[in-house]
Amino acid sequence: MEKDIAQVLISQQQLQERIEALAREVMAEYGDKKPVFVGVLKGVVVFYTDFIRAFRAPCQMDFMWVSSYSGTQSTGKMLVRQDVTEDLKGRHVVILEDIFDTGNSLNFVYQHLLTKEPASIKICTLLDKPARRAPHVTLKADFVGFEVPDLFVVGYGLDYNEYYRNLPYVGVLKPEVYQ
Ligand code: IMP
Ligand code: MG
Repeated sequence: MEKDIAQVLISQQQLQERIEALAREVMAEYGDKKPVFVGVLKGVVVFYTDFIRAFRAPCQMDFMWVSSYSGTQSTGKMLVRQDVTEDLKGRHVVILEDIFDTGNSLNFVYQHLLTKEPASIKICTLLDKPARRAPHVTLKADFVGFEVPDLFVVGYGLDYNEYYRNLPYVGVLKPEVYQ
């Protein structure tokens, strides 16, 4: 697994320190709002569990699982595979995501959650890859862990063909692995 990594982009320690700081930023705004953190499965799981333990105020956990039709992300057509289970009406929702890439999935999740009439919705993403944003996506992330260059990254929840999610850092895959 480690032999397939060309470069460690964000180390375990950098992740730990930044997520503590990120949780403090979110706490400054949501400390008294009892937010619901909606994680977008599956990539967010590792970030989510670290983030939630660094957020030291009352909050609730929920999850959504979405995917694109027939695996073609370019169409931007998405489908809800598993919806949230909490009643979000009147609640302060913060979407937690692993990476804000084209933005198609976040856009879809955001629109979907709006229909549940929350009091507010904001977006907190561990990684932001602004160079890849689709032209029609006007959504902005409210809280960002790290901005990353236009490279395919794995680890800390992010996968390639469902593997590498368990790497404790964010790394760049060697091109020969996916070529
Ligand atoms: P979107 O293109 O912003 O809709 O991102 C969709 C999903 O693709 C993300 O939530 C990730 O799960 C995945 N993804 C995007 N970029 C990468 C990457 O560099 N490595 C691994 N997964 C990625
Ligand atoms: Mg994801």
